[in-house]
Amino acid sequence: MILFHQFFDQTSSTLTYLLADPLSGDAVIIDSVKEHLGAYLTFLQEQELQLAWVLETHVHADHVTGAAGLREMTGARSAVSAVGGVLCADRQLIDGDTIVFGSEVIRVIPTPGHTPGCVTYHWRDRLFTGDSLMIAGCGRTDFQGGDAGQLYDSITKRLFSLPDETLVYPGHDYKGARVSCIGQEKDSNPRLAGRSRQEFIELMSRLDLAPPKLIGEALPANLRCGKPGMSETHEA
Ligand SMILES: [Fe+2]
Repeated sequence: MILFHQFFDQTSSTLTYLLADPLSGDAVIIDSVKEHLGAYLTFLQEQELQLAWVLETHVHADHVTGAAGLREMTGARSAVSAVGGVLCADRQLIDGDTIVFGSEVIRVIPTPGHTPGCVTYHWRDRLFTGDSLMIAGCGRTDFQGGDAGQLYDSITKRLFSLPDETLVYPGHDYKGARVSCIGQEKDSNPRLAGRSRQEFIELMSRLDLAPPKLIGEALPANLRCGKPGMSETHEA
């Protein structure tokens, strides 16, 4: 039975992860995308898995979560950072919390900076870093309460203190990369390697990026756990 699967959303370049306990068949999905609900359900059914948890690394600005549909279709519970402001989630996570599925355990590491409510999930030999640490990059810090100094501290103190061989699975990759490790990012991440905290803050303030296209729709929807809003439920 498959323990681990990576899904990719072309539109937002989002990487979604499914982890499963081979003994119980209990599974977890991290950072789902609403449009791929059918693919997740088919995969769960084919692999004879029961979805136990729907996790978010943060409140996304570029896509709508599949949490509402997954909860409704599978009975799974959802969890996000307690700082994220997602009051509809079943669990509000804090530093050191654990999520148990079957005999598997995920540990919660807060990694604020891209947003105040960003967390990294640590499972076995791997990290799901969301938009905190990315492959040869990191999440932007110019909106949604972003703070470059805080992101630098999260990455260098909480993530770079883990063993070099720890695998890094980010929330996005825009260039086709799919996995890295702590040692590689420490040595060669162009935003971080050899840069002081102040140099990182200056670099992040000069990025001058356009806002995500879907931000107006995605942020309010994700604060509702991906449920449609009032205007979307009224049909003409
Ligand atoms: Fe993000």
